[in-house]
Amino acid sequence: MSVELNDFKEQVRNSADIVEVVSSYVPLKKRGRKHWGCCPFHGEKTPSFTVDEEKNLFYCFGCHEGGDVFKFIMKSENCGFMDAVKFLANKYGIPIPERQKTAQEIAREQKAKQVIETNELATRFYQACLTKTPYGKAALDYLHGRGITDEIIASFSIGFALNSFDSLLKALGKRGYSEQLLIQAGLALPGRNNGAYDKFRSRVMIPIKDPRGRTVGFTGRILGSGTPKYMNTGETEFFVKRYLLFGFDIAVNEIRKTRQAIVVEGHMDAISLHAAGVTNAVASMGTAFAAEQAKLLKRMADEIVFCYDSDDAGRAASVRAVSIARAAGLKVRVANVPNGKDPDEFIRQFGKEAFVEVIDNALEGIEYQIEETILQNNVTNLAGKVEAVSKIIPFLLECKNEIEAAEHIRRLAQRLTIDEGLIAEEYRKVAKKSGVRADAAVQQPTVKATYTAEQQAEEMLLAVLLEHPTLALGCQEIIEEVGFVLEARRHIFENILAHDGEQAINVHQLTEVLDDEGTSVLAGILSKNVPEGDSVKIIDDCLRQMKKSFLEKEYEKHRLLADEFERSGDERFMSELKESQRIKNEIKRLYGS
Ligand code: UTP
Ligand code: MN
Repeated sequence: MSVELNDFKEQVRNSADIVEVVSSYVPLKKRGRKHWGCCPFHGEKTPSFTVDEEKNLFYCFGCHEGGDVFKFIMKSENCGFMDAVKFLANKYGIPIPERQKTAQEIAREQKAKQVIETNELATRFYQACLTKTPYGKAALDYLHGRGITDEIIASFSIGFALNSFDSLLKALGKRGYSEQLLIQAGLALPGRNNGAYDKFRSRVMIPIKDPRGRTVGFTGRILGSGTPKYMNTGETEFFVKRYLLFGFDIAVNEIRKTRQAIVVEGHMDAISLHAAGVTNAVASMGTAFAAEQAKLLKRMADEIVFCYDSDDAGRAASVRAVSIARAAGLKVRVANVPNGKDPDEFIRQFGKEAFVEVIDNALEGIEYQIEETILQNNVTNLAGKVEAVSKIIPFLLECKNEIEAAEHIRRLAQRLTIDEGLIAEEYRKVAKKSGVRADAAVQQPTVKATYTAEQQAEEMLLAVLLEHPTLALGCQEIIEEVGFVLEARRHIFENILAHDGEQAINVHQLTEVLDDEGTSVLAGILSKNVPEGDSVKIIDDCLRQMKKSFLEKEYEKHRLLADEFERSGDERFMSELKESQRIKNEIKRLYGS
């Protein structure tokens, strides 16, 4: 970020009164040093949401969401960071600095604007051809025949490209749009001897809009049969498919309302779902779902339900798409449209209710990945089972939630009739190699231990270290041994370690290097009341608690492994038993219990 931009951002931060900003979304009451209210990010009736005016942060003790005033706006307005800064700048009347653009940037922006203008004019031309000329009759009949009403045709701005090599070129040429521009916009192709010709001919034209609703390209479907069935705008710097979701501009309100998006493969699938009243559907336009598309949805949805075609390609793509959506922090499920139909065919034949049922019955992403992997491997013999397990483990690791992983391991063991301990061991091995902590996966899934003594100790430790960063070095060794329950806390610790100088850490600078989860975790740490007194003593107590919890988990892990091995008659049982005894003795020695 440039110096100028940084100054601007800090100016906005200083002007924006976090209490005032939050108050315009939720009523707050001052109690003690903080303002309290009901959390706008999770449903609750008793207030556990706090705003700390002094620290300029919000934090919810219920859902552990937290951060600064910018993050609050990003969450509330479903926008990105810069948009949040601008939003507040507008509210507080702070002029937004215009960055000096390079000549190249200016030229590119102008070109992008022209390309969009050209596409939008072409849209209107195609629309007129469809609805206002006799040449569009066959296409209109075709669309009506597919259950697409005039209303839907209008809302998706569907049109028709005439069976001609130059009607678009001519129509737009009259208005001063050059051949060159039409070529750049992907609407015309260069001819053999100079000149150009219309790229789309005799096709139903479906405009593709960017998330801001500007037309950046088209897909053209042939009438009836023929190849290619769909002709698409080619990828250029102005048309990058991975940033686009077909139908997003129309579905966005419903997605925001339901916090759910249904993602299908085909444009026609999305249009057909909208026509039938399923209005939170978008199309990934082919099966390759991209991380950028996931990010786009993450701003307004909590969950994606993939509803790809049930052919081999669609199923394999669903398995990959689940991982991508999960990595973006979305909940994800996969719906299976029965009888080998695609969503369009299904909803037209069986109606909205039946389709909604298919969506309601969608499998959890991880379950789908497990089932699909089992289907793809011959699990009637041991080798096939082992192969399937080794393919499934990476999916389990992506879930991060170890309690959940443990549950899946248990079910998988039953499903494949193999020993649960063996799968758990394999899981631990892979986890260790990939640096994921997997202790809990081999434990019994007891209650979800959110705020145990260990977590409290971790938070308190970091709260003190933020004020006295020089003390972090002394903790490094033991932290390396026992680690943190949350990766985000480790990240914060590392940032404190890297801080030089004796003054307390500037919290707002720290939020800049943290991700979304990190800022929430940080807000949680900062909401702690650090007792007055000897910081070194507090730190020692925290480390002592963390080590104790660590040893207890280690003990539990080896004891469980010993049990598993004993049950399956594995001789490693002895060494695990010994190790668990050793840890137990150490706990006794250190903590006397
Ligand atoms: P399908 O072949 O499943 O088509 O391709 P569809 O969506 O069911 O189309 P209809 O119902 O026959 O009209 C799925 C998606 O793959 C891409 C398109 O994004 C299409 O929506 N595709 C398919 C192409 O890009 N080009 C093609 O020639 C075919
Ligand atoms: Mn179809």
